[in-house]
Amino acid sequence: MRKKIIAGNWKMNMNLPESISLISQIKNYNGAKTFKCDVILCPPFTSLDTARTLIKGSVFQLGAQNMHAAESGAFTGEISASMLKSVGCEYVILGHSERRTLFNETDNIINKKVLSALSSNLKPIFCVGETLEERKKGITFDIVKRQMAEGLKEVDLYGIKNIIIAYEPVWAIGTGKTATPAQAEEVHAFIRSLLKESFGQDISERIIIQYGGSVKPDNAKEILHQPNVDGALVGGACIKAESFLEIIKAC
Ligand code: 13P
Repeated sequence: MRKKIIAGNWKMNMNLPESISLISQIKNYNGAKTFKCDVILCPPFTSLDTARTLIKGSVFQLGAQNMHAAESGAFTGEISASMLKSVGCEYVILGHSERRTLFNETDNIINKKVLSALSSNLKPIFCVGETLEERKKGITFDIVKRQMAEGLKEVDLYGIKNIIIAYEPVWAIGTGKTATPAQAEEVHAFIRSLLKESFGQDISERIIIQYGGSVKPDNAKEILHQPNVDGALVGGACIKAESFLEIIKAC
């Protein structure tokens, strides 16, 4: 049995005082010790170090939302994997559709980031997913297959065990339109079949595949109970303690 993992992608929300308040509310929830799933918080860079201190000794883990592939150097405004490690990150979201579309990140750039994260012992939460247009054209599987093949190029058997895959259909992100449980399960099962082809059955069955896209307290349970859905990557609903906790409890 795979233990489910819920991650909260705060995106560009919450300044430092707001972050402190949100983490304190989530952390002080009485039932936190009895969560059945693992929980990762991905606040903005500016809150990571403080978040690390606040979650120390709790069940929560820390992730970042992006990084640069280089180790260091003249890349004004960028952050490296080792910098993220130094503020307590264990995870980093890579290949998010907002990075792909708004910041022109190609499969190749994302692949370099994935390899760099792994070599610094940071675990990528690697996102894939089709646009509405692509779904309508019936090429969802082709798109996901390409993103998986290109983004995970040169990832070896050891590396893949340290990666979480997040299926986030672009048309479901921030739109309030969720994939139906059947639509999610279909793509998740397909992703697992791709993992099996590349890395073998044993490993494919161990890898966490999260769903992301308008996950809310009222739809989380249904989606999370699909056999190949091993957790959620939550956007909008994770920056309010109440709704994030409800989603965690749906596990
Ligand atoms: P929403 O939950 O706001 O749709 O965002 C999903 C997402 O992009 C998580 O990475």
